[in-house]
Amino acid sequence: MTTFTRIGKGDRPSIFTTADQTIALIDPLLYGGFLEHMGRCIYGGIYDPSNTNGLIDENGFRTDVIEAMKELQAPIIRYPGGNFTATYRWLDGVGPKEQRPKRVEVAWKGVETNHFGTDEFMKWCDLVGAEPYLALNMGTGTLEEALAWLEYCNLDTDTHYANLRKQNGHEKPYGVKYWALGNEVWGPWQIEQSSKEDYAKKAYQWGKALKTLDPSIKLVLCGKDGHSDWDRFVLQECLKITDLHSIHIYTFDMQHYPNATSPKSAERAIEITAALIDLARTEMDYESFPHFSTKPKTPHRPKIAFDEWNIWNPIRAPGDKGAEEEYDVSDMLAVALWLNVFVRQAKHIGMAAIAQSVNVIAPLMTTEQGIVKQTTYWPLLLFSRYMRGQSLAVHVRSPAYTGSTSPEWLASTMDIPMLDVSAALGDDDYLNLAVVNLSDSESIETSLPPTEGTVQVFTVGGNENSIRDSNVWGSTKVSIIESEWNESGRFIFQKHSFTLLRWKVSPSRPCLDLSLTKATKDIAAGVVNSLHTRNE
Ligand code: AHR
Repeated sequence: MTTFTRIGKGDRPSIFTTADQTIALIDPLLYGGFLEHMGRCIYGGIYDPSNTNGLIDENGFRTDVIEAMKELQAPIIRYPGGNFTATYRWLDGVGPKEQRPKRVEVAWKGVETNHFGTDEFMKWCDLVGAEPYLALNMGTGTLEEALAWLEYCNLDTDTHYANLRKQNGHEKPYGVKYWALGNEVWGPWQIEQSSKEDYAKKAYQWGKALKTLDPSIKLVLCGKDGHSDWDRFVLQECLKITDLHSIHIYTFDMQHYPNATSPKSAERAIEITAALIDLARTEMDYESFPHFSTKPKTPHRPKIAFDEWNIWNPIRAPGDKGAEEEYDVSDMLAVALWLNVFVRQAKHIGMAAIAQSVNVIAPLMTTEQGIVKQTTYWPLLLFSRYMRGQSLAVHVRSPAYTGSTSPEWLASTMDIPMLDVSAALGDDDYLNLAVVNLSDSESIETSLPPTEGTVQVFTVGGNENSIRDSNVWGSTKVSIIESEWNESGRFIFQKHSFTLLRWKVSPSRPCLDLSLTKATKDIAAGVVNSLHTRNE
């Protein structure tokens, strides 16, 4: 959560937070990834058995990709789609590879060899240290097939599908915890698109059956973008079987400011979804007056799974052509802003997954010779490495962006500070401050919270880059620049930069210390003044 005061020309920007202003635990699943059978994500991305440059292991997996995914510490990976899910027959993808059928792939108009399937995915997750998350086919698939897949993955019984897994060389069940009840079932592009009424009825029945077979699983309901009647309806009908409510948003614009500020719309979507979840839990039953209860219908309060998010222009990078986006500095700022949104809204987010992890709208690209870490890789890495633990409340005083936005409603709905900020207190007692300076022309000199000792500084973008710089094979223009900062007082956030600052704190320090330094007093006074201004 941040509060914001818009300042005028000549006023001094400031950021204020302290280690004891904790607001919510940041779920470790916030830095998840996503692999879909689409374009070069699986074949040529993570699985590349014909690579001749020594870049594969004995499974045919790209070792450079595995190393990068380990560096990103993705805690969970969603698979096998995406739109691909709606026609996927999981049984095609297990057993001896030479016997697996080759199929026409309907969603992305490709050919599916099925050489990479459930057991390969589990092995790959194990190698990168991530938890598997499977999406069920609620398009052409049946409940019987879904139950069979659950049995194959999770049961240790002497029964057909559990035995099939053992026969395929995997004695122990995989214990897959997270299962998605379909993907974007509402979408006109979907095979077997469904109405909200039909979906809710089916999802409830599937959920009941799946949880009967394995009560330990967590089910992810198929929501839309978080601010739709689909979300409201399916939550109300399916709350009992829902552990997480999935929403998807892709943002983009050709112009820098609407592009980089666009993820702010996801912040509003999260707030609205959280309200819809509470609405489904707490709506009063006045029909049964005077015996109605003031208790929530269920004490259980699902969180949001933002299991597809990113920057994607489907005209520039069409899905059936592999959706290979080349990301620039503006996109890098947008990704940092996306992640700031998740940290600020940590209270409501149970999981998030960037879509996708490799080659398809991804921070990581492969060539025959090696990998390219795109501009967007770097904020993802810094967040995953440092923005963990507790989300902290922050107050920001800065100029605001007031121009056009994408979506258009954003400008009239939310404040857009030129400095977009989130903060986290790590278990290592470091305070981590993530700051996006959206301005493509101005550095912003800012008063920071009081720091003790040396501040580690990681900068991506900034003065060294132009807003359209990108990384391609053989040319890395954008990466992390590390430095230290020992001055107290003001810090200069370079134009179009993402900066992560971190310093050691004593977490028990009271919010208003009597031994305030001059800088602290100034900042505290700024906060108090701004509160006055807003109360007037
Ligand atoms: O991630 C690409 C596609 O975007 C996914 O397959 C689909 O779920 C979404 O529309």
